[in-house]
Amino acid sequence: MRILYSEDYNKMSRQGANIVAAQIIVKPDSVIGLATGTSPVGMYNQLIEWYKKGDLSFKEVKTINLDEYKGLAKENPNSYYSFMYENLFKHVNIDLNNVYIPNGLNENITGECRKYNEIIESLGGIDLQVLGIGHNGHIGFNEPGESLEKETHYVKLSQSTKEANKRFFSSINKVPNYAYTMGIKAIMQAKKILVVVNGDDKKHILLDAFFGPVIPAIPASILQLHNDVIICGDKSSLKLIVDNFPLSVER
Ligand code: GLP
Repeated sequence: MRILYSEDYNKMSRQGANIVAAQIIVKPDSVIGLATGTSPVGMYNQLIEWYKKGDLSFKEVKTINLDEYKGLAKENPNSYYSFMYENLFKHVNIDLNNVYIPNGLNENITGECRKYNEIIESLGGIDLQVLGIGHNGHIGFNEPGESLEKETHYVKLSQSTKEANKRFFSSINKVPNYAYTMGIKAIMQAKKILVVVNGDDKKHILLDAFFGPVIPAIPASILQLHNDVIICGDKSSLKLIVDNFPLSVER
């Protein structure tokens, strides 16, 4: 595991974008696993900028997102499809036929999960998986529990996740209660994992996830067992890691 320190959100975003861009330049038809949330937005902006300058092409890139709210149509402004479309896809030359996000409207839960697993398999797995981390240590919507779910599954969102995501909705009651999420197996089988995480409110979970025991109560802790994880963090999110394990951080 490598921990790359950045002074602020912009520098962290640029650092993360360097890793994604390098992946695409080396392998133009890469399968990139994408995340939503505030953490990667700056990184997506940077990638858009490089695309607009002509330095990067998404023509052959395939993307597969971690998760989607159950019950939201892709056209719904709060869906993760809309999030990705607004924050990345509509600005670059990606082929929308090469973009995969669970279908939140599919009522056939088993069928949707199976279909998503098959898509991941048909793509040949993920070359680079981008992740953010929830306050409770969730990755995608793999919520804390007694065990980790390996495959794509249907999940009841925890109260803390609903609280954290209510900022995107008019009220907490509007946050869907359920979601589809990629499982831990597909994430852990990604060849490379890039975690982007910023802000003071993430400093405790970051320390626990990467320097504490590997436990399903903190899903992100499983990432300690992956052999190619890069964490791009800003000064605030890395504060406790810098204080406790200064030698683990690259500046
Ligand atoms: C959501 C998403 C996750 C994301 C997390 C952190 O719950 N399902 O994929 O990583 O939030 O989001 P943020 O970066 O906004 O803190």
